[in-house]
Amino acid sequence: MPIEPNLFERLILLKLNKGPGLILDFLGAQAFRAVCVAVRLGVFETLSGAPLTAAQTAHQIKANERGTALLLEALEALGYIKKKNGRYVNTPLTAKWLLRNSPTSLACGIPFLESMVFDRWEHLEESIRRGKPALYGYDWADQQPDRWRIYEEGMIAVARMVADEVVAKVKLPPTGRLLLDVGGGHGLYSIRFCRRYPGLSATVFDLPQALEVTRETIAAEGMGDRVAVQEGDFWIDDLSAGYDVALVFNIVHANLPDKNTELLRKVAGALNRGGLIVIMEQITAKVSSSTARVLTRLQALNYFNNLEAQTYSFDDINGWLTKVGFTNQRALSLRKIPGFGLVLGTKAN
Ligand SMILES: C[S@@+](CC[C@H](N)C(=O)[O-])C[C@H]1O[C@@H](n2cnc3c(N)ncnc32)[C@H](O)[C@@H]1O
Repeated sequence: MPIEPNLFERLILLKLNKGPGLILDFLGAQAFRAVCVAVRLGVFETLSGAPLTAAQTAHQIKANERGTALLLEALEALGYIKKKNGRYVNTPLTAKWLLRNSPTSLACGIPFLESMVFDRWEHLEESIRRGKPALYGYDWADQQPDRWRIYEEGMIAVARMVADEVVAKVKLPPTGRLLLDVGGGHGLYSIRFCRRYPGLSATVFDLPQALEVTRETIAAEGMGDRVAVQEGDFWIDDLSAGYDVALVFNIVHANLPDKNTELLRKVAGALNRGGLIVIMEQITAKVSSSTARVLTRLQALNYFNNLEAQTYSFDDINGWLTKVGFTNQRALSLRKIPGFGLVLGTKAN
């Protein structure tokens, strides 16, 4: 949980400049690392039943007792677990977001976030010096097979946070039958749209390395008759045609503007006249939310480090869509994750 300084601490650290506010960022980095370690050790799963002492927890996670006790104290101070009569148990927020069997669980995404901050960002300084990624994200993923899984499971965690809101906000044309999910990864958005619209079928188009998790997700959700996968590289391969809706979710931040125009032109070619394009992104709008501002700026740095790209504004996306023949562009904000938003457009002809 984010560290929440009390009023006095805020005054000293953030308003009066009497102490270094930087300490909060330092503590935030340590806190996140402690949570990652706790997830890997299985601490939260262990504390999901009756409250346990540190010794009992250490025994169950097969770890050192003193180390475990210190980790539990840190997690308690951070608000991830509660302590009563010397025994620890998860808080309701931890049970909701971090337990693996919770429907809103983000646990599958923790290894991805951890690898981003503590592995990929080791190259950040060099990327900034060179002006391009020191190690491209997809080359990094190709180096070890399980990194593709970590990546797609990270995307599933994000999807679990926003999918319901996206499906509630995006009204598909009632006659829509076919949906193309461009770089759809795990396929969860396609699955949710198909559940909401019984007449709809979807194709998740993605690289072969990504689609293993997709096939598993589709099978686990029992949607194999409505959601198909298509292996391909959208820079090289044909996207086919005849679609009523195209999702382009978390894709444009990976490309420079000219490439986005090229990709969106290709997506337009796959859509029927009057077809709907839905883009989801972290959008660098002028927002009042400081969390959204920070998220979109830090993610811009992340995409630069990974893929030489960045986050974009609504005007940027709007401009590309107009150039390749879309009209009636509109933006919708998403509340579940600050900084995330949707841009919709209609294929003109
Ligand atoms: C950030 S993920 C987004 C996944 C999903 N759309 C979502 O929003 O959760 C980007 C996806 O684009 C896919 N991708 C990247 N380059 C691609 C290409 N050239 N052809 C097809 N898919 C690609 C990746 O494999 C990955 O699944």
